[in-house]
Amino acid sequence: MLRDKFCAEVNEDDLGKDLKLCGWVFRRRDHGGLIFIDLRDRSGIMQIVFSPEISLETHEKAHELRSEYVISVVGTVRRRPEGTENPELKTGNFELYVKELKILSQAKPLPFQIEETEQINELLRLKYRYLDLRRPQMQKNFLIRHRTTLAIRNYLNDKGFIEIETPMLTKSTPEGARDFLVPSRLNPGTFYALPQSPQLFKQILMISGFDRYFQIVRCFRDEDLRADRQPEFTQIDMEMSFVEMEDIIATVEGMLLYCFREVLDWEIKIPIKKLTYDEALNRYGTDKPDLRFNLEIEDVTELVKHSEFKIFLDTIEKGGVIKAIKGIGFASLTRGEIDKLVQKVQNFGAKGLAWIKVKNGFESPIVKFFSKELLREIADKIKAEEGDMILFIGDEPKKANEILGRLRLEIAEMTKLKREGFQFVWLTDFPLFEWDEDEKRFVSMHHPFTSPREEDLEILLNISPEALKNPKSALKDIKAKAYDIVLNGYELGGGSIRIHRADIQEKIFKVLGLPEDETKRRFGFFIEALKYGTPPHGGIALGLDRLVMLMTGAESLRDVIAFPKTQKAYCPLSEAPSEVDLKQLKELHIKLDV
Ligand code: AMO
Ligand code: AMP
Repeated sequence: MLRDKFCAEVNEDDLGKDLKLCGWVFRRRDHGGLIFIDLRDRSGIMQIVFSPEISLETHEKAHELRSEYVISVVGTVRRRPEGTENPELKTGNFELYVKELKILSQAKPLPFQIEETEQINELLRLKYRYLDLRRPQMQKNFLIRHRTTLAIRNYLNDKGFIEIETPMLTKSTPEGARDFLVPSRLNPGTFYALPQSPQLFKQILMISGFDRYFQIVRCFRDEDLRADRQPEFTQIDMEMSFVEMEDIIATVEGMLLYCFREVLDWEIKIPIKKLTYDEALNRYGTDKPDLRFNLEIEDVTELVKHSEFKIFLDTIEKGGVIKAIKGIGFASLTRGEIDKLVQKVQNFGAKGLAWIKVKNGFESPIVKFFSKELLREIADKIKAEEGDMILFIGDEPKKANEILGRLRLEIAEMTKLKREGFQFVWLTDFPLFEWDEDEKRFVSMHHPFTSPREEDLEILLNISPEALKNPKSALKDIKAKAYDIVLNGYELGGGSIRIHRADIQEKIFKVLGLPEDETKRRFGFFIEALKYGTPPHGGIALGLDRLVMLMTGAESLRDVIAFPKTQKAYCPLSEAPSEVDLKQLKELHIKLDV
């Protein structure tokens, strides 16, 4: 070994001893003939000192050192003189007086300083990712990521799960995104798809009798990217046989409890709260509510029916609803600030935003349309007090919820509502299908392998062909045995109890409007497998990157993925994707048309 220990492992027992350390030159200060350097490695920092009194030659050589040179030093550990200790550092009471210095490698002037904490251009960070990853915060993120996957493997192993790998070169799986395709050289004109998830394979593993499967697995989806989406990401993927929804929920809760305890020393309260999909939409305006703060949307349709405000009455007449939320402390907003808020909400798609200040009674251009008693009742319903504002949205129910869901987050942002810690919530009772207005047909809300509730099976099996084309048909009322887990306003994972009967599975594909030959081509192998003795089964997949992002407090998935892609799915480090040789294309029988 080129060293005796890691930098941050130097301690009381080393005092007076000679040690060999290695690392990168981090910060450097020259003081009255002495040169101080913070030597950095993965573990942290140790201050090393070059003194002409110890070695003239070494001291001279230390002048050559620049940021990020890699060096090895031999020296004696001393206690720092009183008053010069650094309580911020683990090794802040010690320093190493260097006798020998070896420069192991030099570094060019840096594109950015490793210790820079202010915003460095992200493209630059990604281009020089190796430098970016040297930053202590990034090192910490990846340590947490490692410990998280380790805790998960230990937990699931303990519960009898076995990890089985599934193919990367495979067939399209219907998770709703676009596939990444890989041309097959040996089968001209045909393509593999990279898996959007191992969905079909994990179900087949249940048919094979493995009973409890998991995999920490890479998935690929060619979709529009955001801070919480990457084209390749990692799932904690699980599947269990002979279970019901509650068994899967309990397993995931146990796993998260263990993981947060091991990695962050944080106690999750279980059982985790459950909300139905409808409740979540009605109260929080979203199927991924952030429950770190207590602010709810209220339906005031019945109340405002008694007002004379025409906009509301017309909205209700047309089948719409009027919903309201409390603008905490917003009574102090100026007219200009209110106009800005209205503008913002209109950008969310609102037709308008009606408001009433609760201030020495009620204040608004529209109070004249409401009786005092009615205003009091509305204020009470949304728990608005003196100093608050009542904010109303009138629209069709789905849109009103969505807009208020976004307004709710905006209010939290504007009033700096405290959002700390980890608030999990399960969402249940999802609809099995949702209407796709563009395609004029029903599509699966989760995926087509999700089981309907027992009590809704009859509706499904007896559905008429006309119902498939009618957004108001009974299909919209069928509920799925599906569940999502949400953490701090992010969808962390989703899963379901699966269909284990081939006839029901085939029926689902019919409802989705897939022609029989297409069903056969895409999923024939799977439907065939279902016919050879399939146990009831179900599972879930959690986004590992999202989990680690939330655990580390990172703002983007890119801070917890070692080599991520940009918004344009580009890797600035390796410069992928890139053009290929004509020869390669020929071998694949591909002609470009760009
Ligand atoms: P689903 O599509 O809900 O379910 O995905 C599960 C979880 O994976 C994460 N995730 C992503 N993370 C980062 N970037 C992305 N582009 C991305 N897409 C999804 C999310 C999400 O909750 N096969 C089913 C699971 C099952 O039914 O068992 C599936 O993939 O955290
Ligand atoms: P107007 O009469 O158009 O000036 O609108 C009166 C108030 O009602 C304004 O504050 C509008 O922003 C608001 N408003 C208009 N349409 C809606 C709506 N659909 N929901 C809530 N408020 C609205």
